Amino acid sequence: MRPLPEVAPTRHGRDVAGLLQDLQRVMDGAYQPSHPGALAHLDPPPLTASIAAELVCAGLNNNLLAEELSPGLTGLEHELCRWFCHRIGLPSTSGGVLASGGTLSNLMALVTARMAAGAAASNAVVLCSEDAHVSLAKAVRVMGLAGDGLQELPVDAEGRLCAEAVERRLTALRDQGRPCVAVVATAGTTVRGAIDPLIALADVCEKAGVWLHVDAAIGGVFALSNAHVPLVSGLERADSITLNPQKLLGITKASSLLLLQQRDHLRRAFSTGLPYMQPPTDLDHGGEMGLQGTRPAEVLKLWLGLRQLGEEGIEAVLASALHRRALFAAALDPHLMQVLPGDLHVLAMHPTQMSAAETERWSESTRQSLLASGFMLSRPRYRQRFCLKAVFGNPHTTESHLNALAQLLHDSLR
Ligand SMILES: Cc1ncc(COP(=O)(O)O)c(C=O)c1O
Repeated sequence: MRPLPEVAPTRHGRDVAGLLQDLQRVMDGAYQPSHPGALAHLDPPPLTASIAAELVCAGLNNNLLAEELSPGLTGLEHELCRWFCHRIGLPSTSGGVLASGGTLSNLMALVTARMAAGAAASNAVVLCSEDAHVSLAKAVRVMGLAGDGLQELPVDAEGRLCAEAVERRLTALRDQGRPCVAVVATAGTTVRGAIDPLIALADVCEKAGVWLHVDAAIGGVFALSNAHVPLVSGLERADSITLNPQKLLGITKASSLLLLQQRDHLRRAFSTGLPYMQPPTDLDHGGEMGLQGTRPAEVLKLWLGLRQLGEEGIEAVLASALHRRALFAAALDPHLMQVLPGDLHVLAMHPTQMSAAETERWSESTRQSLLASGFMLSRPRYRQRFCLKAVFGNPHTTESHLNALAQLLHDSLR
């Protein structure tokens, strides 16, 4: 459904009733993340405190560009980044900045890494796995790196990068005289939720003197939980980390953090002096610590959302998402459906007994028939083959929904 209201402003402006009608039309065509069958993507239902904070943020209309335009909120962003760093185990020199999405955090991380390495050459390389997110391809294009500037290494059966292969590639690059801007590990790959071996990769990068960026857009939030932090151990050794609270915790979009082991690197990469603003008192201007200039106070909805959840709430969101995945995986018949191994709350699957061509047709028709039954899954192409993917970050999805979904999938194969 894509109902559209009239687009152009009317001559005299609409009254409240008219505006509500306009809004209703747009809302009728919206994706509904709170529906229990909304399992397609990393877009969970929003927390009420986060929604309220978003409204307040709009009302305050502060600008995170500069301290004088957002004195309290600049301080809040600074402190909340420090809290995240502390929870992850980064040193006191660490810090970060909020960004409007993980794509931007990844880009800023690589720009910062390049600046820190002094690797301005256009033949410089970024290494990652073949399952890393497409935002890295965008980043190397924006950075003007060569066509093979992003080098993707194969993953193992578990969907993880192999540290020895990274080490070999670093040696080969050195022999070719090509600088390496960064190795990017992924903590939670987009299709199957796999986590690269962070400790082994940190060892390799440390030995080679290469920047380690961890794209933990999906998996980083697990570091906030004492019970689940082992999933991402080694994260604290990254030079930079992308973490997206919007993807599982229910913080309204956009909510992403770029955290750095050494916060000063951000200033070196992005500060310009911002000559038309008063110099900051003791904190840096937000606009001097990243690529964005004018920014809304996205910190407000993140902070208030976390305050609403509390430690127990955070734990419950993470644990229940993993639990739903485990329940669903157990409900699937392994003779009919093959689940790709993964570490987090994301599950990609395809029928065990079908060719790639048959899977392409099955995934398309099954996605449609599931929609008609109130379930939305996504259909990524992975290794020349389509899969259906479910993400279990939706707390409205109950065990009986999961069993019903598994049954529909089995029926689609009979
Ligand atoms: C692993 C990973 N990194 C980065 C991103 C990009 O994040 P965003 O969509 O917030 O730009 C995604 C998005 O799905 C992702 O899965």
